[in-house]
Amino acid sequence: MYQPVNLSDAIYYVGVNDRRTNLFENMWPLERGIAYNSYLINDEKTTLIDTVEIGHIDKFLKKIKSIIGDKPIDYLVINHMEPDHAGSIELLTKLYPNMQLVGNKKTGPMVAGFFGINDHFIEVAEGDTLNIGKHTLQFYMIPMVHWPETMITWEASNGIVFSGDAFGSFGTLDGGIFDDEIEFEYFVDEMRRYYSNIVGKYGSPVQKALEKLKALDIKIIAATHGPILRSHIADMIEMYDQWSRYEAGKGVVIAYASMYGYTEEMAEVIARELALQGIKAIRMYDVSKTHASHIISDIFKYKGVILGSPTYNNELHPNMESLVNKLEHMGVQNHYLATFGSFTWAGAAVKKLNAFAEKVKWETVGTPVEQKHALKEDKYEACRAVAVAMADKIKQ
Ligand code: FEO
Repeated sequence: MYQPVNLSDAIYYVGVNDRRTNLFENMWPLERGIAYNSYLINDEKTTLIDTVEIGHIDKFLKKIKSIIGDKPIDYLVINHMEPDHAGSIELLTKLYPNMQLVGNKKTGPMVAGFFGINDHFIEVAEGDTLNIGKHTLQFYMIPMVHWPETMITWEASNGIVFSGDAFGSFGTLDGGIFDDEIEFEYFVDEMRRYYSNIVGKYGSPVQKALEKLKALDIKIIAATHGPILRSHIADMIEMYDQWSRYEAGKGVVIAYASMYGYTEEMAEVIARELALQGIKAIRMYDVSKTHASHIISDIFKYKGVILGSPTYNNELHPNMESLVNKLEHMGVQNHYLATFGSFTWAGAAVKKLNAFAEKVKWETVGTPVEQKHALKEDKYEACRAVAVAMADKIKQ
């Protein structure tokens, strides 16, 4: 029998870990796995808040039954319909045929569309409440954090906000489930990577959600991924505030593509000069080796970005193209950008990188450097000049 994990006397964590899936949304690497969190309130009306990805239904049901036995589930609150949380809804409605689904006006059509379920649905709107016995749940809409139907569920007697994807993280819960049971710092990078990769496009909706949360006396944040927060709530809210305003720190991310090392050599020259100029936080990535997920996460951390690419078929190197394409999709704002590249017979990469800078409206820094064939003396100097210009901006 599982040992219950209590958030309060009658509120339980019943989530699961996934260490088998390699790519979240079939795109973002899960080197440290991911947790799908769900919560159960054992009150007069038994209430489940969100479910788990369908592949983990067995463990999930075992955890639920270890708390409520054969008692039915009366309500399933659906904060978010992405299948990593909604995947078990259809099966649960078969196991608990009288269970009422609780969602908002945007949730209902999704439940119907994904599962063909058109009944047993209670529609709630901003500020509505649902009494389940000793607890009363209240609902607040947070559209686009991360889908249009996303909402949070507030349980005032214990100060718990069931926040959906908001404040979530990549990484499994390896024994420690609450933030004071783990090395919190270990999770911060994964929290930022999760935020930047999954929610990063929606800075403005996140800001609106944070405004709503200010009115609540929050004691616990129970997200659908990552540790349950009860000791680092203020830290986490501050990080979310910074990330959603695209406020990055004093450091530089150098990301380059390089087929035979010539463009990489330019990156090395730039990095060394940055260090000589006093920049200590330098993160350098070969885009053909490091997944964009990690590079984007560091771009949310550091304000300076220097991108380099060889010309490939009169375009950017495809792996650099993939990175800038993702950054453009995400609408990442408020960065400094410098560019460099190389070519053998006709240059195009630097022009493409500068077109990217215009599209995302990042402030360009220094004079772009484009090298034909191997690096020549004047281009060494030009690379160093780019580094000096970027360092000056970062140190301002
Ligand atoms: Fe964790 Fe947007 O789903």
